Amino acid sequence: MKKTITTSAFGKGDTTWFVRARFGLFIHWGLYALPARHEWVKANEKIPNEVYDAKYFAHFDPDLYDPNQWAAAAAHAGMKYFVVTTKHHEGFCLWDSKLTDYKATNTPAKRDLLKPMVKAFREHGLRTGFYHSLIDWHHPHYVLDPHIGPYRDHPDREKMNIGRDQKKYAAYLHGQVRELLTQFGPVDILWFDFSYPKPDGTGKGRDDWQSAKLVKMIRRLQPKVILDDRLDLPGSGDINTPEQFQPREWPTVNGQRVVWEACQTFSGSWGYHRDEMTWRSTDELIRTLIDCVSKGGNLLLNVGPTGRGEFDYRALDRLRGIGEWMHHHSRSIYGCTQAPDEFPCPRDCRLTYNPDTKRLYVHVFAWPYKHLYLDGQAYVDRVEYAQLLHDASEVRIRGLENWQAQRTPRGAKPELPLLLPQVKPNVTIPVIELFLK
Ligand code: GLC
Repeated sequence: MKKTITTSAFGKGDTTWFVRARFGLFIHWGLYALPARHEWVKANEKIPNEVYDAKYFAHFDPDLYDPNQWAAAAAHAGMKYFVVTTKHHEGFCLWDSKLTDYKATNTPAKRDLLKPMVKAFREHGLRTGFYHSLIDWHHPHYVLDPHIGPYRDHPDREKMNIGRDQKKYAAYLHGQVRELLTQFGPVDILWFDFSYPKPDGTGKGRDDWQSAKLVKMIRRLQPKVILDDRLDLPGSGDINTPEQFQPREWPTVNGQRVVWEACQTFSGSWGYHRDEMTWRSTDELIRTLIDCVSKGGNLLLNVGPTGRGEFDYRALDRLRGIGEWMHHHSRSIYGCTQAPDEFPCPRDCRLTYNPDTKRLYVHVFAWPYKHLYLDGQAYVDRVEYAQLLHDASEVRIRGLENWQAQRTPRGAKPELPLLLPQVKPNVTIPVIELFLK
């Protein structure tokens, strides 16, 4: 296998736990849970600050919020870490930041919503990640640009920019990151979102965030924290973050395989969206998780909790289903990665491999009739035993009977035939565990 890079000039986060954990929960929660029609609603519908706040800041009251239930649902699904929006593009903060009034404590919620969340997830054994928006549609010093935000094509945009100072915004950003890294114990992931530099300088990027200075401070405060790759500062990120698509193969940078994590939604919106009906099934989501690991990556799967502070019933349903599958199959996920090249992937399957135990996992996406063929000399030489993972029942290494083989003459190609039960086992995606010599 090609070497995997885990560090770079700036990026020295500790990804050793991360590449074993493989599965995390993304949480998008903010005022946008109330309009319930996408976390970008303020920009999409060009809602001015006064209107947005009079409606949503004034009425944000998640009375049913119980982070223990969130953490329990994530832990049961087999997730090993969570990443929550401390602040999304709307600018609203879940914690009691000393640098703004635009925070949960000043809404009818009247409390810090982040502290108890971190505590609950830690108690359930999950690591902590903070998503933090670089973009801010509320801060008075964030310079209004023509690309993004509710005022992007407002006729008075230039006038509204008089007195705004992006440097002051950057100081605010750094101050808040300092709070997040000093008031919540060890933070495992910082997930910044996002830069949009433009050739004519009208976008936003490293100079607007003072990214280099920011990364230096972060590394001083929490040297191990994993950074994503959205600060517009090449070499500073520890992880590559494909969003709402699956990479075709293990992503590379300068020809080297990198640590990566796909982030995906259940339906499309990241924030709670009442009317979106395009929810993916449990089966499809499990396939996505397997697909990530089979290419050496992680999956960060998103939930958008409601304005009352609960997970949507559809999210709970999917998480429960994934948990049932993980109960029997997490061995093919945790600590696993892409299989060595000498083991080609059988038809309609995905392979993962645990380099510590030297076991290969064949995830059978479409159950074949009786035989599954593992092509290649490596399988013939190295497979010593095979079993179904969910019940440890033997899978016999056995091909066609002579009379059958005579009917389908085939050249002498190296192959290892597995004799499967006639009916697909009663699990969402069956997995065959191969013990290698
Ligand atoms: C995007 C969106 C955002 C979401 C994020 C998650 O960049 O701006 O709403 O939080 O992706 O990856």
